[in-house]
Amino acid sequence: MPFLRTAFIALSHNRSLRNFCERSRIGSKLSGRFVAGMELTDALRVAESVNKQGMFATLDSLGESVSSAAEAHKAADVYHQLLDSIRERHLDANISVKLTQMGLALDPELAEAIATNLTEHAKYTGNFVRIDMEDSPLTQVTLDIVRRVNARTDLRGAIGIVIQAYLYRSQADVEQLISDGIRVRLCKGAYKEPAEVAFPRKADVDANYIKLSQALLESPLYHGLATHDEGMIAAAKSYAKHRGIAPSRFEFQMLYGVRRDLQRKLVAEGYNVRVYIPFGREWYPYFMRRLAERPANVLFIAKQLLRQ
Ligand code: FDA
Repeated sequence: MPFLRTAFIALSHNRSLRNFCERSRIGSKLSGRFVAGMELTDALRVAESVNKQGMFATLDSLGESVSSAAEAHKAADVYHQLLDSIRERHLDANISVKLTQMGLALDPELAEAIATNLTEHAKYTGNFVRIDMEDSPLTQVTLDIVRRVNARTDLRGAIGIVIQAYLYRSQADVEQLISDGIRVRLCKGAYKEPAEVAFPRKADVDANYIKLSQALLESPLYHGLATHDEGMIAAAKSYAKHRGIAPSRFEFQMLYGVRRDLQRKLVAEGYNVRVYIPFGREWYPYFMRRLAERPANVLFIAKQLLRQ
């Protein structure tokens, strides 16, 4: 149902609906399907529980495209608090950061300075910063920033990036990142992209995902394969087994609230699993992208609403 996907992605940019939903009590309750809660402590509590179930966590303080430098610094402060809390509570968790929330659209130098500070803090606390990937006009600038931060010898290995299998350019990017020694999270891609830059057909995205995941598995670095697609997971498992690549050399990553059964199954089989845990009041665009991925979620949410 590609038209539903397009509709939900269009709705994810709707300002008035966003304001209404983020302020309404019912909206906040419904967001609980995919969001750990509104506060930082909610994310820490969920991360603790995820760790107890034998999985790692990555924490995302929700928010995209800030409109002033002050807002970008405020958003960064939350991540600094997270890095300190993760250490204090001995959590097995890192952070996932969107550069638009750090001011990328206002001033790329500001976003780079904030990403550098966060990576310094992460390095100092023995942690790691994952830079999420946003829509395609931002791909190159995001790669450039991550490369420059990672090029600092004292920060090497403390920052990583996300690559989207739906983009034609991703194979070349993966090869370059491997040779730069930058850890990758591979996902299919969550934005609406034109056919000039991205495979329009799901079958082609899936084939590219498998090809890129094999290149990552062959590299000496520890990468993340982010997907809930059992076909992608089976392909990675069988490739790793065939090539003698131990399960400890890579991890699967999934979103909070999605395919918990599969998360548990992979842990029981001895694979590393990391759960992406978003939290915060600005949950609306994230939530709409999750509905776009699986419009059947709307039914699930409608049932919850009727039960309220
Ligand atoms: P696909 O969409 O083909 O779904 C396969 C199956 O998974 C479905 O049939 C369904 O069973 C289940 N499923 C998938 N999505 C679901 C949902 N929302 N609710 C319930 N079931 C669902 N994207 C991006 O552009 N930039 C980024 O930085 C990231 N970061 C990221 C981190 C992590 C940890 C994950 C798991 C994903 C991302 N993504 C992302 C999102 C990613 O690009 C993609 O949109 C989703 O993961 C859905 O793709 P799948 O690989 O799961 O396959």
